[in-house]
Amino acid sequence: MSKTSVLLGIETSCDDTAAAVLVDGKLASSVVSSQPQHVEFGGVVPEIASRAHEKLLVSVVESALQKAGVKKNDLTGLVVTKGPGLIGSLMVGVSFTKALSVGLCIPFIGVNHLEGHLASLFLSEQTPPYPHLCLIVSGGHTQLMRIDAPGKFLILGKTRDDAAGEAFDKVGKIMGLDYPAGPLIDKLSVSGNRAFHSFPRTRLKGYDYSFSGIKTSVLYYLNSFEEEERLIHLQSSLPDLCASFQEAVVDMLLSPVKKAVKDTGIRHVGLVGGVSANSRLRKRMSGLMDAQHGQMYVPDMAYCMDNAAMIAMAGHLRLELGEQSALSEIANPSLKLL
Ligand SMILES: Nc1ncnc2c1ncn2[C@@H]1O[C@H](COP(=O)(O)OP(=O)(O)OP(=O)(O)O)[C@@H](O)[C@H]1O
Ligand SMILES: [Mg+2]
Repeated sequence: MSKTSVLLGIETSCDDTAAAVLVDGKLASSVVSSQPQHVEFGGVVPEIASRAHEKLLVSVVESALQKAGVKKNDLTGLVVTKGPGLIGSLMVGVSFTKALSVGLCIPFIGVNHLEGHLASLFLSEQTPPYPHLCLIVSGGHTQLMRIDAPGKFLILGKTRDDAAGEAFDKVGKIMGLDYPAGPLIDKLSVSGNRAFHSFPRTRLKGYDYSFSGIKTSVLYYLNSFEEEERLIHLQSSLPDLCASFQEAVVDMLLSPVKKAVKDTGIRHVGLVGGVSANSRLRKRMSGLMDAQHGQMYVPDMAYCMDNAAMIAMAGHLRLELGEQSALSEIANPSLKLL
């Protein structure tokens, strides 16, 4: 019988300090500590983020171990996000993990944050078979992928400018909403009229995306009002504007997915990353897959945004292939998936 695997996952790539424990591939605990101190700056301040990780990481790890009922000495391996992300933030997680690996005499593996988002699908009861397609929609990335096996990917298309989450956050800022605006735009849209204003949908050839046009279009639309008038308009029509913007983004996200399902014949499609929490995107994607006689896979809400459970799962899949990192491994802020 193989020895029980007890993995500790650590995620510190941006502004969430997270740790999780995975026992034999099953999630035993997941703890995420967010950093509200960035809200007043309208975005993540790298220096504040890395200092906060250093302060929070020990207690977040202790809490994850305690919730899982696991002691440090029970751990058989460690997994950490090595990139992409903010260099100072990544270095806190990677250095901590390497020190723990040496102290406990157990192996560690550094994984790509996006591979973590892809692995979030394997935290659910119903997991996708290989090959499957997966749309990553997060704060820093928007890309449509074909996954043939653990660690075997192909990027079919990606954004040429802003990521979808970035578009939500930037448009939110234009509308006067707090960062990150995605969840609030989703909430406000529920009571809004999606047909209130028709924002242009950018559709590129193939499977690529572009969201800079819609951001500019919202800005031009609001700038067409005099300042006082604009504030009144925003007050009276905010849910309608949010719903109209959101519908355009969802249309743009789903168009290449539909084409990829048709072109590849692969009918199992995952949706991951922070924007996969969006209620309208989930609903429309589910409708699209029903119409294609296919199946949609999404992580539970808790594992859409950054977390360490998905990082532990990505490491679990890699360790099962016999891989591990050397102590010479270092954080890489611009790490590529391929
Ligand atoms: N319900 C929602 N609707 C739309 N956007 C959302 C929703 N919930 C979260 N988001 C967006 O998700 C993004 C955060 O996702 P995530 O934490 O995966 O990104 P990130 O880790 O910063 O980027 P990356 O994973 O590309 O490095 C933010 O842009 C946020 O506005
Ligand atoms: Mg992320």
